[in-house]
Amino acid sequence: MVISLVTLFFLSTCALAVINYPVIPDDVSTPVQQRIAIKAPNSISIGWNTYQPLEDACVSYGLSPAALTSRECSFAKSKTYPTSRTHFNVVVLSDLKPTTTYYYRIDSSNSTTEKFVSPRRPGDHAPFTFNAVIDLGVYGTDGFTIEQGSSEHKKRTELAQVDPSLNHTTIARLAATLPSYELIIHPGDFGYADDWFLKPKNLIHGTDAYAAILENFYNQLSPISSTIPYMASPGNHEATCGEIPALSRLCPAGQRNFTDFLTRYGDTMPTVFPSQSSSATARALAEKAHKLALPPFWYSFEYGSMHVVMLDTETDFPNAPDQPGGSAFLNGGPFGKTFDQQLAFLEADLASVDRHVTPWLIVAGHRPWYTTSTSARCAPCQAAFEPLLYRYGVDLAIFGHNHNSQRFNPIYDGVPDPNGLKDPKAPLYIVAGGAGSIEGLAKLENPWGSYKWGYDEDFAFAAIDVKDKKRLGVRFVRSRSGEVLDRVELVKKHKDKFVRQELPV
Ligand SMILES: *[C@@H]1O[C@H](CO)[C@@H](O)[C@H](O)[C@H]1NC(C)=O
Ligand SMILES: *[C@@H]1O[C@H](CO)[C@@H](O)[C@H](O)[C@H]1NC(C)=O
Ligand SMILES: *[C@@H]1O[C@H](CO)[C@@H](O)[C@H](O)[C@H]1NC(C)=O
Repeated sequence: MVISLVTLFFLSTCALAVINYPVIPDDVSTPVQQRIAIKAPNSISIGWNTYQPLEDACVSYGLSPAALTSRECSFAKSKTYPTSRTHFNVVVLSDLKPTTTYYYRIDSSNSTTEKFVSPRRPGDHAPFTFNAVIDLGVYGTDGFTIEQGSSEHKKRTELAQVDPSLNHTTIARLAATLPSYELIIHPGDFGYADDWFLKPKNLIHGTDAYAAILENFYNQLSPISSTIPYMASPGNHEATCGEIPALSRLCPAGQRNFTDFLTRYGDTMPTVFPSQSSSATARALAEKAHKLALPPFWYSFEYGSMHVVMLDTETDFPNAPDQPGGSAFLNGGPFGKTFDQQLAFLEADLASVDRHVTPWLIVAGHRPWYTTSTSARCAPCQAAFEPLLYRYGVDLAIFGHNHNSQRFNPIYDGVPDPNGLKDPKAPLYIVAGGAGSIEGLAKLENPWGSYKWGYDEDFAFAAIDVKDKKRLGVRFVRSRSGEVLDRVELVKKHKDKFVRQELPV
């Protein structure tokens, strides 16, 4: 998107400055932006913000709303960063019984009792569903598009005055279908605060507009994220205050280098779980991966019969797009102690997965390499990650970034797997980037590679049905109506305890 500085100046002088900040509650201990995540085996992290720093954040919890008999505290002061009006708190609840309903209440004179179901233990092979929601924007006067754009950056033509009811169609569908799914993964692009400049009213108050969009977005998400584990990894919209290179240089401290993302999720996302395998090698590899994981950027977790790896497609691999000097001009990271930390983590983590414990190996990241869009395609990501995904037999790879819904044949290096969905060696790739944001939907472009199905007419997300050890369902759900737009079943024998495959020549 190209906006000249003259236009910016002109628009800013005519703009009526109205920053759409949420009202600060009279009781500044009131928890806002509540979110939970799987933190470790049998552990849930509770994250929330307050409009005052807390010396020690605490949560009471128990098996009945009338008996919150356990209590856990952070033993740490709230975190914050310059330009944030709120302070970030985290408490971790450990030693939970698996798959059990717990009630919890954040300590405050103005909080309510919420509930969650504790995580399935790794190796529990019962069926369940989780959702993949990517590229999800704020709704209200600073966001949400209901019209399809002719390009990725087409602005909406109609203002969706939906505040304050929950009817961003994707957020509404996620709320209406609780508790039919057990967790959400969201690999990147939360709220689109860095798109504040798309609204002329924000132009002279960009710093506040950025902060306001984040506050609103995480409040809108909290009816879902306060009760369903919400697993985050970074996208390009977390990198800095604006995507225009000229503006990006002017971003204030606090709105650069993934600061909100890191402050919000750094202490709530998990690292690699200890391996449950009978193999000492697998346990050692998981321990190695544990040391190399760097949540919230890259990490893994296990849930029932799946092992999920969350990747950072933005920084920390050769030619990563958001790094200083990278193709996206976003000047973020790197975050690893050494430049190869993420790839070393990925290899150790994938190699550790015992398919007799967690038959399904799923990888999620933000930028895709199989996509119908030439501009959204991340070639450096493919070079860095694809061979490892193939070698260790990843079953399903989930990406976003391109704002629509796409499904590919299982594929490696541009060549479709001859087995299709029946025991392929290559991963099944999907793009689930159509959750809905101020940037609207992107039209499907020319099919590239082995593109099988796509949808760009309305907002949608992916629902993954882990059915049993051999069958995995992938559905795309239209947010507005709940209709299933596409449904396939991936069948894998999963007979080998550890998968090692030679790359096709
Ligand atoms: C208590 O919290 C609710 C939202 O959870 C808020 O609307 C209300 O203003 C708060 N009350 C006070 C006294 O701050
Ligand atoms: C939001 O809800 C209002 C009132 O229920 C409805 O008129 C409007 O069409 C909804 N918007 C969307 C985008 O679903
Ligand atoms: C971003 O933050 C990381 C970790 O704090 C730091 O190592 C890196 O140099 C920063 N990058 C930039 C461009 O400031």
